[in-house]
Amino acid sequence: MEKPERFAEVDTWQTMMFLYNAALKEINTKIEILNDEFLHVHNYNPIEHVKSRIKSAESIVKKLKRNGHEVNIDSMVQHLSDIAGIRIICSFTSDIYTIAEMISNQSDVRVLQIKDYIATPKPNGYKSYHLVVSVPIYLSDGPVETKVEIQIRTIAMDFWASLEHKIYYKFEGNAPEHIRTDLKECADIVEMLDARMLSLNESIQECRIH
Ligand code: GTP
Ligand code: MG
Repeated sequence: MEKPERFAEVDTWQTMMFLYNAALKEINTKIEILNDEFLHVHNYNPIEHVKSRIKSAESIVKKLKRNGHEVNIDSMVQHLSDIAGIRIICSFTSDIYTIAEMISNQSDVRVLQIKDYIATPKPNGYKSYHLVVSVPIYLSDGPVETKVEIQIRTIAMDFWASLEHKIYYKFEGNAPEHIRTDLKECADIVEMLDARMLSLNESIQECRIH
């Protein structure tokens, strides 16, 4: 988030958490409306489910320290873009790009960063589409641009990421070689499954027309 101009007035923890919560609500509502509209126009639901969370104070402090930043609210606002986080789970890889575009195209949403770990997966096999956006939160004396991290992935990618996350924590980042190899193989299977489910769905769509 750019340091808000009225930062002197919004310098308390409670105010910042209020802003991040408000930003989550804004983005959640946008997603819900886009999904409803999509259902109305195209007769199908691109979104399976949505999860959102505010990063805990403990995690915020840990991340600032890990990245060598000062631990204060100013530093948090400047350096962390995932205090407000939303995860959108959809059925098909193609839905991911549709949803990302629909969100990005909204005039009050500013896209600050894109990381496409679907086009370029992480070496461990992690796949997901990450966006950092900001939305204006209208306080009584004007708007404050507030950052939200949005992760968009398929059900299969989410299944993989949940297990990888568990393993990562269990072994504190040093999982044995055979587990890492297995995980990478599972990531390849996820990729194959997503591709086949997508083409299967396309075949079904074609059947409907004829
Ligand atoms: P963080 O310091 O973890 O936030 O990483 P970053 O600032 O480099 O951003 P990145 O976009 O790479 O990752 C942001 C978030 O994506 C993480 O906090 C996780 O929620 C998720 N993520 C990224 N890489 C992985 C991964 O290898 N495995 C899993 N399970 N999740 C990941
Ligand atoms: Mg993070």
